[in-house]
Amino acid sequence: MKARTSKRASGLARRRMAAGATAAALGLTMALSGLATPASAADPATLSGIILGVGANETQRIVTWYSSADTVQKVQVAPTASLVNGEFPAGAATFDAIGGANIATSGGFNRHATLSGLQEKIQYSYRVGSEGNWSPTYSFKTQDFEGDYDFLFYGDPQIGSSGNVAKDQAGWQDTLDVSLAANPDAELLVSGGDQVETANTESQWTAFLAPDKLRQYPWAATIGNHDVGGKAYEQHLFTPNTDRSGALYGNGNPAGTQSGGDYWYIYKDVLFIDLNSNSYTTTSGGGGDAAHIAYVTDVINQHGAEAKWTVLVYHHAIYSPADHAKDGDNKVRRVDFPTAFSNLGVDLVLQGHDHSYSRSYEIKNGQKANPAEQPGAADVFPGPGGVIYVTGNSASGSKYYDITAPDNSGTSGAGNGADPLNPNNYWYNSVQNQEHVRSYVKVQVRNDKLVVENIRSGTCAAPNAAVELGKVSWCNNTTAGQPVGSIVDKVTVHPYQGDGQSIQVSVPNAPPGEFGWTIDGYNGLVDLGTAVDNNGDYFAATGQINPILVSDNRRSLAPWSISASTSDFRDADKTFSGAYLGWTPKVLVAGAGAQASGAVPSAYDDHGQGLSVSRGLGWAEQGHPKGTARLGADLDLKVPDSVDKGNYRSTLTITALSS
Ligand SMILES: [Fe+2]
Repeated sequence: MKARTSKRASGLARRRMAAGATAAALGLTMALSGLATPASAADPATLSGIILGVGANETQRIVTWYSSADTVQKVQVAPTASLVNGEFPAGAATFDAIGGANIATSGGFNRHATLSGLQEKIQYSYRVGSEGNWSPTYSFKTQDFEGDYDFLFYGDPQIGSSGNVAKDQAGWQDTLDVSLAANPDAELLVSGGDQVETANTESQWTAFLAPDKLRQYPWAATIGNHDVGGKAYEQHLFTPNTDRSGALYGNGNPAGTQSGGDYWYIYKDVLFIDLNSNSYTTTSGGGGDAAHIAYVTDVINQHGAEAKWTVLVYHHAIYSPADHAKDGDNKVRRVDFPTAFSNLGVDLVLQGHDHSYSRSYEIKNGQKANPAEQPGAADVFPGPGGVIYVTGNSASGSKYYDITAPDNSGTSGAGNGADPLNPNNYWYNSVQNQEHVRSYVKVQVRNDKLVVENIRSGTCAAPNAAVELGKVSWCNNTTAGQPVGSIVDKVTVHPYQGDGQSIQVSVPNAPPGEFGWTIDGYNGLVDLGTAVDNNGDYFAATGQINPILVSDNRRSLAPWSISASTSDFRDADKTFSGAYLGWTPKVLVAGAGAQASGAVPSAYDDHGQGLSVSRGLGWAEQGHPKGTARLGADLDLKVPDSVDKGNYRSTLTITALSS
């Protein structure tokens, strides 16, 4: 018997099998609500540049700031509700800061502290400094530490690139205000790189850091080509789990004059890996793209199983539509990266640098994975190795690049040829857009999909520095037709999501036959939703399996059966037995002599084995009529209240037998 693992072919999960035994898997998921884990726990310095950064996970934040004096400092944190008249309570938690001296052009010192042990669904207040010399108080909120969430992605604010820092700051401020007014519960602000125009120019950093939203929502920094040439980036933006080895610096020297390093964090169900794409060759001393691939490989091997999604972020877009699309360095990355990203199961790549918006087709190993994927498709179903690459336009309006024309250099590898389906576009872009208006990208993280939207945060009107200053000669957006908040592009990515949702098919050495079965329709996640507490005894959730189509037109009229069993439900290191899942099989559409197998209760009810062992779904006896049947089952999950809160998944493996 030959075994084969298939992540999922194209849109529909269809398997037509010869007679014999076949198996496939459905992903099951459910959520439990419950209690959170408990929280851990004057000088002359002038404090400035305070920014809230992302931590290693949703229970952490990192605060970074500048200090004029080299004094002992900390961050003080308390639930906002515990403050009285703005005063922090006695015994409020503090986190010691560390840091060092800034480079001479920056002056002063940098400090950062990691806030850990945060509780979910709490509004926190915090301030930095020391007794008698505190900064103003700022606030952020944590949300549910499990489940769905949204994050926002911002391309190249690049403050100063229009030549007018104040105008760039105004656009940047407005995009943050507009995007967070529309998405007040967004949980992360992810950078596409190029925070500023000139790496060590502190006046630009001051303008970049001016919006108070950067002290309320965690910024996940990304280093751009305009940030890399100095140390101010590292001084201002401390990041978690950062590998600062020489291989990840363009010049190979972390102690030199450049910023660099790669880092990762897991925020709820997403593993984010952020790369210093400035280092892409070994000719200047760094480890080039090979070092990044080694880093991404290590992180995914070590931590990929702790998250349901993998999102990569780096500055230099390898698939984009404008001035940088044909750059030699990007073509190098476009050769170096895609096959590794496909092999590692990356779901989404977020990029900047080209100051224009694009969304790629599903790219596998550097080629369009599905030639039939239509431009601008609203839903995409990447199979194994399919990766979607998104490039963000300018979030500040400081600079835009116009879309450029494809050349004749082919439709794979580093080629920049035209899309056969849309000859004005590059072959790799499903959507390309440039209106010379500010925008941002919203990503909705859901159990079984990622929804990616490019949303306008401005119009042609000010603040829009590049247009105001005549850096670009046109702006083709109308306030009436394409107002702030309107959507440039929206795509729902229904990717392969890992072992819990793979369709694993064991293909037997079977004689030719006409017995077959398929999962009816797209094999989406079977989502049981949030389990409901029942009188403090157990949690209950219900749902239905994705129906199974069985067809049998064999002359032998031989018997067949379909059965299934489920794995344990897991959420990272938390687990409960698959025995707590029971079901009631049904014949939804009669045919092929199909009969429903008997109901199986949850082990909670009968202390049995539930669906943790193989159970029948349907069957037909010898001599049954030819035809097709549609089988379903109502799922019944009951788990004890002692199970920890979490988003759990299991795999339902379906097996068909015929003789
Ligand atoms: Fe840029």
